[in-house]
Amino acid sequence: MKKIIIANWKMNPASAKEAENILNGIKKTAVKLKKTQAVICPPFIYFENSRKIIGETANLFLGAQNSFWQNEGAFTGETSPEMIKNSGGSYVILGHSERRALGETDEMVARKTSFCLKMGLKTVVCVGEKVRDEQGDYLVFLRDELRASLNKIQKKFLKNLIIAYEPIWAIGKKDADAMPPSDIHGTAIYIKKILSEIYGRENASSAPILYGGSAGKENAGEIIKNGGVDGLLVGHQSLNPEIFSEMLISAENI
Ligand code: 13P
Repeated sequence: MKKIIIANWKMNPASAKEAENILNGIKKTAVKLKKTQAVICPPFIYFENSRKIIGETANLFLGAQNSFWQNEGAFTGETSPEMIKNSGGSYVILGHSERRALGETDEMVARKTSFCLKMGLKTVVCVGEKVRDEQGDYLVFLRDELRASLNKIQKKFLKNLIIAYEPIWAIGKKDADAMPPSDIHGTAIYIKKILSEIYGRENASSAPILYGGSAGKENAGEIIKNGGVDGLLVGHQSLNPEIFSEMLISAENI
């Protein structure tokens, strides 16, 4: 399986010109990738231009940061999976903790997940605990969040499911503040176990697990190598093309 390194630009950058410069910088490295897929998730307003820049680059893909659970209708401000696909997107991030903090519920994430998978998008469902407590309550939280966010998926669409584990307490900090790879490894195994409980071992074992939360050039290689994950979901450091390119190279060299 190729490593998957996703750039979640969140609500950045401020101008189309900056977005273009960042993506052009990343593309210089992405054209050389063989064992790694880079996915850029810009704000929708930069989608069309990003699609043009990406062009036919083999291992560089376009993704959305959100999607609605229907394809058309009176849903002001929403964007549908069909629109994402028609605009060159092949990935979508759903249930990011920042969207959940704005009021998105497990039920909404579940509806979006099931519909985006049905529409054939590679669907990245984010889960992660707010705090990692000594008693292990976070494990129960993670299990419940996974079950509730995935409860509407039909088994036949599972092949496009990707899970991003993003502990909320580790987001938006420095490389040294990321979760230690050994802890990531333990959690990745736990997530696989929950997926097997829901869908059966053979169906769930193929879902890639990504880590997100202060991933940067200092820790990218180590997290992928020793964290038992298939890639990374990168926030603020993906806006720096030099840093993000180094992360792609680290993944490629594993
Ligand atoms: P940072 O890489 O900025 O910690 O963000 C992680 C994240 O939320 C990616 O979706």
